[in-house]
Amino acid sequence: MHRVVCPGSFDPVTNGHLDIITRASGLYDEVVVAVLINVTKQSLFTVDERVEMLTEVTARCGNVRIDRFHGLLVDFCAANGITAVIKGLRAVTDFEYEMQMAQMNYRMAKVETLFMTTNPLYSFLSSSLVKEITRYGGDVSGLVPDPVLARLRARLAEE
Ligand code: PNS
Repeated sequence: MHRVVCPGSFDPVTNGHLDIITRASGLYDEVVVAVLINVTKQSLFTVDERVEMLTEVTARCGNVRIDRFHGLLVDFCAANGITAVIKGLRAVTDFEYEMQMAQMNYRMAKVETLFMTTNPLYSFLSSSLVKEITRYGGDVSGLVPDPVLARLRARLAEE
């Protein structure tokens, strides 16, 4: 079985993430979307909430599984029989950092990284921008899945 991991913070999942996950699901037997548990980074949504949103918006892809991990991605890969990571590349600004992680993951555990070019419709999109824009009353509909939009507005209205 060819299994690949799509790791990230997903705080929250955007249509850019969903585009990569969906396209990857057409290429691999199984795509494991792995949410990083990062206790040092402040997030808008808890890991449980992020997993819930990802589960809901990927429900139509039968070969996508949502999981969570802490520690090194290569250790998660070893524990789950995964030999490759898939990442979306939005622009050259992503490249330097992504290449460094890809080479380090290969150096540590021979885990390969495959880069998929982001759909140009979403090349400017990030979870951080989506949060900032919603926080100040801007409209991000069409940039995140509808259930995520509803949760974003509700959470930021509480602030
Ligand atoms: O969505 P993000 O925050 O850009 O995702 C970054 C992520 C989770 C892919 C990256 O931080 C990661 O793999 N973290 C796990 C810790 C790890 O393995 N660090 C060494 C990387 S070479």
